[in-house]
Amino acid sequence: MKSMTLADEAATEKLGRDLTAALPEDAGGWMILLRGELGAGKSTLARSMIHALGHEGNVPSPTYTLVEPYHLNGLAVYHVDLYRISESSELEFLGWSDLRDGLLLIEWPERVEGLEAQADVLVDLSYRGEGRNAEVSAISARGTVMLEAVLL
Ligand SMILES: Nc1ncnc2c1ncn2[C@@H]1O[C@H](COP(=O)(O)OP(=O)(O)O)[C@@H](O)[C@H]1O
Ligand SMILES: [Mg+2]
Repeated sequence: MKSMTLADEAATEKLGRDLTAALPEDAGGWMILLRGELGAGKSTLARSMIHALGHEGNVPSPTYTLVEPYHLNGLAVYHVDLYRISESSELEFLGWSDLRDGLLLIEWPERVEGLEAQADVLVDLSYRGEGRNAEVSAISARGTVMLEAVLL
């Protein structure tokens, strides 16, 4: 686990770019969890990653739609917000199994028990003064390899 201070929004965006750069060229099937309370910067980080993957234009919050899909340079990217999910059985309504081939960026992953064990990387964001703190952890073996490239 690597802990870092994100002094401002630009630092959160840079972390998003750095994480994206460390992903393999085909990041289909990867799962990145974004944890942290309301306003901690989960959507800022996801937005930065989606832009770094080649999306131009805005990145709406999936708070109400639950999933916002993108197709970027041949890669399916799903920005997911599980805040409104209260049990894992509800994932079926999202067409969850159809999302697993894409790159998943998931806010509020703790709403679904057992999700963490399936993920590659966990980013835990918290408030620190005017800024934020990020704890970035690898969960899978390939996540460990990926983070070795980015967390210097
Ligand atoms: N490192 C940071 N320091 C200070 N403010 C930040 C930082 N990162 C993001 N923010 C700001 O925090 C606010 C909430 O961010 P958002 O990404 O919507 O949070 P979440 O999705 O976790 O609810 C935004 O106004 C954003 O500009
Ligand atoms: Mg959000």
